Amino acid sequence: MSILIKNGTVVTSSKTEVTDILITDNNIEAIGYNLNITEDTTIIDATDKYIFPGGVDAHVHLDLPTPSGPSSDNFKTGSIAAIYGGTTSIIDFVTPSKNESLISAFNNRLKDAKNSLIDYGFHMGITSWNKETAREMEACVLDYGITSFKTYMAYKGTIGIENEELRNIMQVAAALELIITVHCELGDEIIKLQKKYIDEGKTTPKYHALSRPANIEAESIKQVIQIAKETGCTVYIVHTSAKESVEIIEQAQLSGQKVFSETCPQYLFLDDTVYDKKLPESLKYVISPPIRSNQDQTKLWEAINNNTIQFIATDHCPFNTKGQKDKGENDFTKIPNGAGGIEHRIELMYTYGVLDNKITINKLVEITSTNPAKIFGIYPQKGEITVGSDADIVIWNPKTENIISAKTHHQNCDSNIYEGFKIKGKAETVIVNGEIILEKGKLKNKIKKGKYLRRN
Ligand code: URP
Ligand code: ZN
Ligand code: ZN
Repeated sequence: MSILIKNGTVVTSSKTEVTDILITDNNIEAIGYNLNITEDTTIIDATDKYIFPGGVDAHVHLDLPTPSGPSSDNFKTGSIAAIYGGTTSIIDFVTPSKNESLISAFNNRLKDAKNSLIDYGFHMGITSWNKETAREMEACVLDYGITSFKTYMAYKGTIGIENEELRNIMQVAAALELIITVHCELGDEIIKLQKKYIDEGKTTPKYHALSRPANIEAESIKQVIQIAKETGCTVYIVHTSAKESVEIIEQAQLSGQKVFSETCPQYLFLDDTVYDKKLPESLKYVISPPIRSNQDQTKLWEAINNNTIQFIATDHCPFNTKGQKDKGENDFTKIPNGAGGIEHRIELMYTYGVLDNKITINKLVEITSTNPAKIFGIYPQKGEITVGSDADIVIWNPKTENIISAKTHHQNCDSNIYEGFKIKGKAETVIVNGEIILEKGKLKNKIKKGKYLRRN
């Protein structure tokens, strides 16, 4: 089976050129003109369209178990939303409960993911340190191709860990040359503030944000970076949201430490006035860290352009307002944390980043596809348009205009934090592993399942 994409404007992280791409079976076979086609080659005219490598979203939580039920997108519905948004690979998480074996949690998680329509990998969550952890971390790498781990300094009492546990984990990671990704917020401080507000009868989503101020994120980042320095571990700070946090990360990077940093569209395009909305509307913005101020947004854009922040992921973790988020209508601590965004990451970054001259189109590809593929060990299989790469390709029509709405989105959720946002440009045709699965905006009926990505 072969596909010839003709005359598209191919955009990678390093160049933009009009050319043809020949796909045979799963792979990109050739790039250039006068390529060898056969009678049954499918030809796609991509004149005036951009061709991007499929997006790689390295921070998603599909089917995440919580006391309010799982996040509302499972691997099937979440991967469909991803496809509509031009994302063709995801890295989700294994989240073992405290002291559960990492290996058995991984095997269970593989079952959850089997209906994904795009390729997927996992960061292995470590939610406690015990005498088996070091051995199991090594087994994750050798036996399952998991090269990145996830720890939470927030969510104390459930999945959050102590600094000394992080130190042990980072020591092992440094020896094995692995990456530790960290959710940085001081868990104990948050619990104190939550209790204070609830005791004062301050129960609305606004107090979710006030119980997780920027300094609580920044101080946690400072401590985590210090532990990473002492252990020699490479650290990746997830969902960086605050100006102070960026300053700390920047300092560490300038000193030569291996510190990587991600932010998410919700921190670039929404500001903290969302918490002034009335209930139940305000429930949908309960995410952690919370949405910050305009000054924080400005600093995040600056950090993207000076490479302090190298990744845009979504932290996709939607919950329905009805039946899930509304469980905390009278107590913000009971609102499941998270919101969806996988479908909108690239279109938001294109509309409000590229078209508003905040980033170049090559930077868009770099931070949404190439960089995550590189750091998480799936490059150049993913994140690149080059001969031999997987044929995960997005044909982007820059001429379309849409308005984001829960009425028309594809994620399985009754609300959308980007409701009403005007969007220019769209993933019109999406090819996954050499198969056209979204054609002119329509999803094919029969789609091959995605596969598990072993990483290196
Ligand atoms: O609010 C969020 N971000 N929910 C998902 C879990 C996490 O902390 O990343
Ligand atoms: Zn987090
Ligand atoms: Zn997350």
